[in-house]
Amino acid sequence: MEYHKLSAKPCSSYLFFHILFFAFLASFADAAVHFHEFVIEAKPVKRLCRTHSTITVNGQFPGPTLEVRDGDTLVIKAINRGRYNVTLHWHGVRQLRNPWADGPEFVTQCPIRPGQSYTYQFTIQNQEGTLWWHAHSRWLRATVYGALIIYPKLGSPYPFPMPKREIPILLGEWWDRDPMDVLRLALFTGAAPNVSDALTINGQPGDLYRCSSKETAIFPVEAGETILLRIINSAMNQEMFFGVANHKLTVVSVDAAYTKPFATNVIMIAPGQTTDVLLTVDQTPARYYMAAHAYNTANAPFDNTTTTAILEYKSAPCSAKKGQSLKPIFPQLPGFNDTATATAFTSQLRSLSKAKVPLEIDESLFFTVGLGLINCTNPNSPRCQGPNGTRFAASINNVSFVLPRRNSLMQAYYQGQPGIFTTDFPPFPPIQFDYSGNVPRGLWQPVKATKLLKLKYRSKVQIVFQDTNIVTVEDHPMHLHGYQFYVVGSGFGNFDPKNDPAKFNLIDPPERNTIGTPPGGWVAIRFEADNPGIWLLHCHIDSHLPWGLATALLVENGIGKLQTVQPPPLDLPRC
Ligand code: C2O
Repeated sequence: MEYHKLSAKPCSSYLFFHILFFAFLASFADAAVHFHEFVIEAKPVKRLCRTHSTITVNGQFPGPTLEVRDGDTLVIKAINRGRYNVTLHWHGVRQLRNPWADGPEFVTQCPIRPGQSYTYQFTIQNQEGTLWWHAHSRWLRATVYGALIIYPKLGSPYPFPMPKREIPILLGEWWDRDPMDVLRLALFTGAAPNVSDALTINGQPGDLYRCSSKETAIFPVEAGETILLRIINSAMNQEMFFGVANHKLTVVSVDAAYTKPFATNVIMIAPGQTTDVLLTVDQTPARYYMAAHAYNTANAPFDNTTTTAILEYKSAPCSAKKGQSLKPIFPQLPGFNDTATATAFTSQLRSLSKAKVPLEIDESLFFTVGLGLINCTNPNSPRCQGPNGTRFAASINNVSFVLPRRNSLMQAYYQGQPGIFTTDFPPFPPIQFDYSGNVPRGLWQPVKATKLLKLKYRSKVQIVFQDTNIVTVEDHPMHLHGYQFYVVGSGFGNFDPKNDPAKFNLIDPPERNTIGTPPGGWVAIRFEADNPGIWLLHCHIDSHLPWGLATALLVENGIGKLQTVQPPPLDLPRC
């Protein structure tokens, strides 16, 4: 096993001792503090033949990659020089006792107004792998996002052979209009927002789109080496299949948690998720496309285009390098609705080592998740352009989550301000029905409210997410802020509380921060509520979030300072 970057490979027992000594020192002394300024501002970005005024961080799209080690502290001053309110979220960072740095607008903070700033300060505690950051206000995250790479502590190896090269692969979606306007229009009409005009890899659509091939991302590699692809689905609304022509991918980590390695031709990745894969550069020297396209599970329009980047062997024939004659080889991707392949992929994921899964459960929750329709008194109104003169909505247990406007949930909770939220979120659906079957129309309309679910500190929690067939079945990637959870089981159809739990994997289930419901199926997660604060739980499909596919967990403080939310920073924005 080799060591990461900054330390040497042991070649004698003396050297080995030396390294152990350094590792010992490192664990105490070497945690670094990283200071960054993130200026959020509009910059001209040209895509698909047109120049847009795009909200970026430091003029970069995608935004800057953050590289830190486990144990390091990040201090990021977000300066809003754009025209929209903004907040930033560090997706997957646990933020222990520190919800103030988590970022979702009106949940843990009020937004940073144009001209204002806020400094996010947080420490990475026992996490390593690939995470990312993104805006968490309206649809700004369409262009405001970047990678957050956490290396092991100095002197700690990866649990796999040290790759020669690491490449972040950010999958995204591009609109030919201002994404904020796309959302605004949808929220006005009540219809679904327009689908994106392109999918992207590291911000570039690639060779299959107009005016794009000059900028296609190209990754030069050396024959024989093994590289690590850190794949992040930062797309707004789209699960994706991803593959590299002629190359096997060995999955080693998801959502910054190591997995038992397994080889695959293609991965399925949902918005919010990350997947690290090893790739060995062992094919005929040439150029190979990496490509991604939609995995679409809903009965609804979607972006059916394909984004590409190029894996280029440095030893590939010259004419190929200039792209004159030798076209890159194209990978085979599964069909858009190939749920069998998606399921076969996700069911192979296992934690690398024995997992600390809660075995005795204190809170057993059953959450129906899905879309809904709000009936209109005047179905011909321009505000009721959803199916049959309705407005789209979405809900968990029939509650369509509404963000407060007067204050953030966390600030209201901390200050004891009443009237901002209630804590009566239902632990199971108000009515039992055949969730994945034919749902009677009378059950399609959810109720709008700001209800939170209260949890005792350290309680052991199980949540079963049950997809409904209201409007359509769909893979809803459910993301929990402030936590990593174990995915102990999943299946199609309705969850069977008698027989399904017996089939749970309580030995080595994968640990994640985002997990999709199989379309028309269920998925079960477990975690210990060891992080006090208010934590958003939501579908990471950004058209579903404003429709209300969310709730928040209010995890109470324990006893003493180390089990209590820390005081907020002085510059926390006020509403
Ligand atoms: Cu990646 Cu609530 O977000």
